[in-house]
Amino acid sequence: MPEETRPITKWDSFTMVVPESKDKLFHPPDDLQRDAHVPDFNSYLEIYRKSLEDPEAFWKEVADEFYWKKPATGPMLQYNFDITKGNIYIKCMEGAKTNMCYNVLDRHVKDRNLGEKVAFHWEGNSPEHHLTITYQQLLSRVCRCANVLKKMGVKKGDRVSIYLPMIPELIYTMLACARIGAVHSIVFAGFSSESLCERIMDAQSSVLVTADGVYRGEKLINLKQISDDALEKCGEKAPCSVTKCLVVNHHAVRTKGGTSCNKLQVNMWWDEAMADSPEECEPEWLDAEDPLFILYTSGSTGKPKGVLHTTAGYLLYTSLTFKYVFDHHHDDVYWCTADVGWITGHSYITYGPLANGATSVLFEGVPVYPHIGRFWEIIEKYRVTKFYTAPTAIRMLMKYGQEPLQKFDLSTLRILGTVGEPINPEAWQWYHEVVGQGRCPVVDTFWQTETVGKMINKMLLISESDNSVRILLNLHSSPCFYLCREDMPWPGIMRTVYKSQERFESTYFRKFPGFYVTGDGCRRDKDGYYWITGRIDDMLNVSGHLMSTAEVEAALAQHPAVSEAAVVSRPHKVKGECLHCFVTLKDTKEFNQKLVEELKKQVRDRIGPIATPDFIQNAPALPKTRSGKIMRRVLRQIARNETDLGDLSTLADPKVVEVLFSQRSEAA
Ligand code: WT7
Repeated sequence: MPEETRPITKWDSFTMVVPESKDKLFHPPDDLQRDAHVPDFNSYLEIYRKSLEDPEAFWKEVADEFYWKKPATGPMLQYNFDITKGNIYIKCMEGAKTNMCYNVLDRHVKDRNLGEKVAFHWEGNSPEHHLTITYQQLLSRVCRCANVLKKMGVKKGDRVSIYLPMIPELIYTMLACARIGAVHSIVFAGFSSESLCERIMDAQSSVLVTADGVYRGEKLINLKQISDDALEKCGEKAPCSVTKCLVVNHHAVRTKGGTSCNKLQVNMWWDEAMADSPEECEPEWLDAEDPLFILYTSGSTGKPKGVLHTTAGYLLYTSLTFKYVFDHHHDDVYWCTADVGWITGHSYITYGPLANGATSVLFEGVPVYPHIGRFWEIIEKYRVTKFYTAPTAIRMLMKYGQEPLQKFDLSTLRILGTVGEPINPEAWQWYHEVVGQGRCPVVDTFWQTETVGKMINKMLLISESDNSVRILLNLHSSPCFYLCREDMPWPGIMRTVYKSQERFESTYFRKFPGFYVTGDGCRRDKDGYYWITGRIDDMLNVSGHLMSTAEVEAALAQHPAVSEAAVVSRPHKVKGECLHCFVTLKDTKEFNQKLVEELKKQVRDRIGPIATPDFIQNAPALPKTRSGKIMRRVLRQIARNETDLGDLSTLADPKVVEVLFSQRSEAA
């Protein structure tokens, strides 16, 4: 049976803590605390207890803020969370009918008189390009897009793949899908054609929405070309599901009437399609458990998992966590720098903020273009009050020192957030002192694509789920801990892996029956604070982007010179972790710089630039157990130059390790 380490009995103080220097505690400023939705620890405890003791009433109250065409006939939550008792399922508000898009747009415009309120300040890659979009404008553009999708034949339940940069059309399209009950599957626009193809094929989307191209800094990415390649690849494997392609003419490379998708004349240009499309579109009233979207996340087998989220539970969880964790108030200007192509963007750029009627910044560009102070300039320009970014971005900007920030007025900032990977003490401190000028609480939010919303937050407000997170010793009692969530689901948890209930159950629920397993290691200090120690499965986290060892290894193994590859992570000053790849070459092949470059390109082309390896090392042989399993633990230690390797008795040939150590410095 899983063993609990130590139950939390009390919380010692209502404070924040700097990682690794636990004696240094920071208190939120008085005025922030006074006006907060949850002003002190006792009010937190009250809400928290209610959520556990009477979840029905707790979630009912959250649901009452929203519009339900038909009320629920079942309880707020119905579930089986214990694999030994049958299949895992989670249902929220069975019988209720609603529409996500109606709740995040029409409700504000029609019932709350917020039509004139700014929903998004869009800021382009170039500072010369910007747009302000009110709730009313957003609603009419979403409706137009919804009508276009309908005209293209998209119906309730159909999948629509979206491969767009951070432009308003991305938001319009996803909300248009939600409006007509289509299931969006957004693919981050940094992914390769191969990755896009894989995701289109799995979802069997009938429509692809993309753009001609986009500039990221000074670099042009030709999205249409990548999309065409992807569709062509889909067509090579099976009849391509995509029959129509809607293309936003965002960038000047527009080649009207030129390229065609998958050799079919299926292109439609966005502007032309929208021009005569009506501004009214009756929302499709969906069941509470109808799917809202699929978002692919890396799986340990290498094949991405289509994480499926549904309507009502997602609405309740993202809206509540956004409101409490960032202490949202009506006059805030909120900016999350993530890309909508990741879950952070789905939950905390689109749905969570819009459900709260928030004003957000939507930024297309990169932090250092056209100058290294771009982030700070944007904060000043829009008078941003709540700022949410990733440790990687902080570490990158830290390198330039304080000077770029001093040119801008950051005094509007009130709360700072981080997400995606563990934050190191130096980055935390710089964020707090230099960006937040010592007065803004830093909210570190731990969560996952699967959990849909924040789970653990180190901040002045603690999310409602905190105390029910458990750390379990793994079955072999080795000193790593699994972070799990016990007993009871929360409305936003993923419902299944698209078309693979079996994979859903085995990935998250089989290891410790009764618990949801995150795949992360964790420890808890004497004050009750959780410390995420990183992934303890075969997952890698580079710059906050999750990928599996298997997918990178598969990409390397596709190169004709490679007979076998094993990939591990090692620390990196900016990226947090980077990839160190061990490759065993085929007999006749030679390891040289040219091959190294080819292999790096191979991975970049196969998966996308985020997966480009930092180190490739020649490995005449890999350390394996007698049963032939690669010992990644040993490789990780070699990559990190840790010489104390512990017990190597299970290795078939210990000499392999010496060789790899001696050649480590030649990794390039
Ligand atoms: C994995 C989930 C959360 C949305 C973006 C990533 C790591 C995430 C933290 C944090 C330490 C973190 C975990 C997690 N992670 N946030 N605050 N501290 N690690 O979503 O791609 O599903 O990745 O990111 O390893 O399991 P994702």
